[in-house]
Amino acid sequence: MDRYEQVIELAKRRGFLWNSFELYGGAAGFYDYGPLGCTLKRRIEQIWRELYVIHEGFMEIETPTVGIEDVFVASGHVGGFSDPLCECQECEEAFRADHLVDKIVEVADALSNEELDRLIEENDIGCPECGGKLGKAYEFNLMFKTNIGPGTGRQGYMRPETAQGMFINFQRLSRYYRDKLPFGATQIGKSYRNEISPRQGVIRLREFTQAEAEIFTHPKEKGHPNFERFAEVTLNLYSDEAQEKGAIEQMTVKEAVENNMIAHEFLAYHIALTNHFLQRVGIAADKLRFRQHQKDEMAHYAIDCWDAEILTDRFGWIEVVGIADRTDFDLKAHAKTSGTELEIHIEYDEPKMVEQFVVKPDMGKLGPLFKGKAKAVADALKELSEDELSKDEIKVIVNGEEFTVPSEIISYAQETVKVSGEKIVPHVIEPSYGIDRILYCTMEHAFDEEKVEAEGDEEEEERMVLRFRNEVAPVQVAILPLLTRNELIEPAKAIAQKLRERGLLVAYDDSRAIGRRYRRNDEIGTPYSITIDYDTLEDNSVTIRDRDTMKQVRASVEGIEDSIYDLVYG
Ligand code: GAP
Repeated sequence: MDRYEQVIELAKRRGFLWNSFELYGGAAGFYDYGPLGCTLKRRIEQIWRELYVIHEGFMEIETPTVGIEDVFVASGHVGGFSDPLCECQECEEAFRADHLVDKIVEVADALSNEELDRLIEENDIGCPECGGKLGKAYEFNLMFKTNIGPGTGRQGYMRPETAQGMFINFQRLSRYYRDKLPFGATQIGKSYRNEISPRQGVIRLREFTQAEAEIFTHPKEKGHPNFERFAEVTLNLYSDEAQEKGAIEQMTVKEAVENNMIAHEFLAYHIALTNHFLQRVGIAADKLRFRQHQKDEMAHYAIDCWDAEILTDRFGWIEVVGIADRTDFDLKAHAKTSGTELEIHIEYDEPKMVEQFVVKPDMGKLGPLFKGKAKAVADALKELSEDELSKDEIKVIVNGEEFTVPSEIISYAQETVKVSGEKIVPHVIEPSYGIDRILYCTMEHAFDEEKVEAEGDEEEEERMVLRFRNEVAPVQVAILPLLTRNELIEPAKAIAQKLRERGLLVAYDDSRAIGRRYRRNDEIGTPYSITIDYDTLEDNSVTIRDRDTMKQVRASVEGIEDSIYDLVYG
């Protein structure tokens, strides 16, 4: 068994992760979270909320998981959100063509379908399932399609990222933040991708949870107001250049910006915040790196992107967070498709004198041409871009009516004018977290096996333990009456209640031998166990056992809720 198998076996047995639809034979790419998995997930999400929503002040919103077609046409997903698919001509199994050749070429996803076909043929790659001949590679769109409304309805798609819901609410968000940059919005929710043959268990899912922040910034102001917070933190960076040398570089956030390795302070700050979050949920610092996307693998919307990658036993380095500079790509795309300006008016502290290109229509000629509407046409002309004005027939729309203005009656000038502000399209920095992958890695990095001495009624044996950080452990304290006797059960239940009321996550367990119950709690990562025995009835004290050291101490029942609370959060 490799580590992945061990973790998944434990996860299934103890109620963290279950294969979805198991009763009906299951379906690849879907997982259920059992009671402990669900709690673990919520706790990880809660830390994310604490950092992004409370500390950063990026308010959370919630938008539909089904989207209308226009949104995904504008975002580029209808046109280009696809992977190359290759089908076996004999058994009809489908495969990702780039995955079939990625042992031959490292950056397979940067190859065209023709190049993939050539490599498959030249290297005589057959169907991994039956050895049969593979058909030609073609683009398979990863969005799940659906219909909105009865009949053929309106074309809809399950969202492939939560981000678009925030972009299309830009105007509302901007108003909420009093049109002051920078501001951010966050969203945690399900995203859907119809992945081709997901064979990597919980790593590649068809329905998964993303936690995303869209931070709208001034395009010319790259300095982060709180940059000093992480300036001296050392990161494991695997930049574009470092990848050529095959060596991770360690440097502080400040050095990375000074060396121009990370060009934008906002990007650097959010890489550092991601580093902070991942270690806080229990990712080992030496198994965490930030890899810069190479030019040919960058998503269509980004000019720079760094992935937080975590080292796993079976899959090697896997991407868990993408931190991208999306520029003004999305706002401009939605502005164009919706025909609505998605800009922000920035008021200067003091008015500025600026050289401006001014449109000067000849009102003497405009008047007779457009009668009572000449003034409105002149105003509309002033709103046009230089590009639109350079055409022979210049078109403007006034109250929904289109007018064509001959170019010869317009002249232009460069004038110095006093302006109080300007309209800009903000640039977006986006940290995008995949919660399911993070959860799996948290479990893998917490997983440990060790030989232990006899304990309770258990003999010397190997124990499995999840060394979760207290902050994410789905059970913080277990209450274990030594024997299933009423005189022990009653005080045990009373203690459990006190701890619950203190806000701690408690599991009460009185079934089976005490040693077995300790093992069970080690396996689910419970940091502390309290045993109620006959001495409790005598001196009002209990035993507190520490998961990691397995050491036991006696403590008074009086104030036990505060003692445990301090141990957990101290
Ligand atoms: N809005 C940007 C975006 O969606 P992405 O790199 O495609 O970027 C962000 O996705 C994160 O979502 C990834 O780093 C990964 O953790 C997670 N993710 C993406 N596809 C996934 C899948 N099929 N299964 C599980 N997690 C996935």
